[in-house]
Amino acid sequence: AAETNAIHAVGRRRHVLLFPLPYQGHINPMFRLAGLLHARGFAITVFHTHFNAPDPVRHPEYRFVPVPDGTSGPAPVAIEDVVTHILALTAGCEAPFRDRLVAVLEEYSSDTVACLIADAHLLPMVEAAKSLGVPTLALRTGSAACCACFIAYPMLFDKGYLPVKESQLDMPVSELPPYRVRDLIVLGDDNHGAVRELIARAVTAVKVSSGVILNTFDALERQELEGLRRDLAVPVFDVGPLHKFSPAGDSSLLRQDRSCLEWLDAWPPASVLYVSFGSIACMSPRDLEETAWGIAASGVPFVWVVRPGMVRGSARQELPEGFEAATRARGVVVAWAPQEEVLGHAAVGGFWTHNGWNSTTESVCEGVPMLCRPCFGDQMGNARYVEHVWRVGFEVGGELERGSVEATIRRLMIDKDGAEMRARAGELKKAAEDCTGEGGSSYLAIDKLITHMMSLKN
Ligand code: UDX
Repeated sequence: AAETNAIHAVGRRRHVLLFPLPYQGHINPMFRLAGLLHARGFAITVFHTHFNAPDPVRHPEYRFVPVPDGTSGPAPVAIEDVVTHILALTAGCEAPFRDRLVAVLEEYSSDTVACLIADAHLLPMVEAAKSLGVPTLALRTGSAACCACFIAYPMLFDKGYLPVKESQLDMPVSELPPYRVRDLIVLGDDNHGAVRELIARAVTAVKVSSGVILNTFDALERQELEGLRRDLAVPVFDVGPLHKFSPAGDSSLLRQDRSCLEWLDAWPPASVLYVSFGSIACMSPRDLEETAWGIAASGVPFVWVVRPGMVRGSARQELPEGFEAATRARGVVVAWAPQEEVLGHAAVGGFWTHNGWNSTTESVCEGVPMLCRPCFGDQMGNARYVEHVWRVGFEVGGELERGSVEATIRRLMIDKDGAEMRARAGELKKAAEDCTGEGGSSYLAIDKLITHMMSLKN
């Protein structure tokens, strides 16, 4: 009887269709959202590109619909390629997605489909769904401040903040405090046209949808969320941090090396530095070398993620000769870590990060202060908030040089300064827990989102 009931329940379920942008920093929040909606009774159908396709075996409870994307070849390595790659992927997917959506809508009775939730970078999919009568919601995986910056992008050009001029890097952007010119979204030097197009499309995807879902929370970005609610005609759902609402969905594209968790058990609280630059950012062989020797000289225990392909121009990351021998007793290097668990481990007391939005919020939620080394896109803006607004870290600027790397690490991990940042990070962690707990702002936003989804008319 229990089984029959379950089948009936499935039959009554509303379907929600999802389409993530196929990069790690975008896949993770979308799958967390999927987990959350599934737990609330929605049946989940995930459309996905061939590029970075998810592994259906890891999510037997979801249905997967592959969409040919027309691209081939290895993952983009250069930052400038990401923009071109996204535009090519979306163009390649547009027609095949429409065909597959038509087929899915024929199969599911269309009044059981609540909506399509698409990454905001997938405007053509949003438009295809709308033209077929499917309501859409846009998922923005960055901060509310970044979303505001996207909306302001044409103004930033009109007022001369962009393209960035070397002489104006420290000029405040008075329309978008606390950003300075150097904190604005920059993606390569030569492709302003493509970047403007990408950003304009993301803003359009938000504006033509029936709402925008943001992976942020009130205690972190209250003013920025208020600003968005003023500027946007569509409802804004601040449901983050999504990873606190939904169990790890194992959406990692690379295998996470869990051995570092056991290794961490041996260290005292807040003694270990975790170093990771996310899934796309790269460094030069010289920066790798200076980083390595700076870490070694600091004497601070560490877990360092050196991802395959992270070092420009080298297929295998060669750590400098002698580095492993010099640090063997107090450090581990892994190709990919179970990051949320590492940050949540009591032994971890600092995070040297590129400030991708997921890394930033994961660190904040575990009360871990940050050394910020932003590389591109929204990362500079995120680092600005870490240092200037939340005051839970500071930026490692300029050329990397082993002496300054060593001093910087010691400032965060050993000095009073770092301890103060750690204390503030602990307060933010508590604030995040309040937002995600019963009755908290994100908890309530999820209820509102679900009510909204159920009310959308095809
Ligand atoms: C990209 C952009 O760089 C970022 O600025 C934007 O906000 C989102 O897209 P990415 O470089 O992937 O993000 O960084 P981030 O947003 O931090 O996401 C990385 C994800 O991979 C995190 O969820 C992190 O937990 C996970 N990760 C990272 C691992 O699971 N293991 C690792 O070793 C490193």
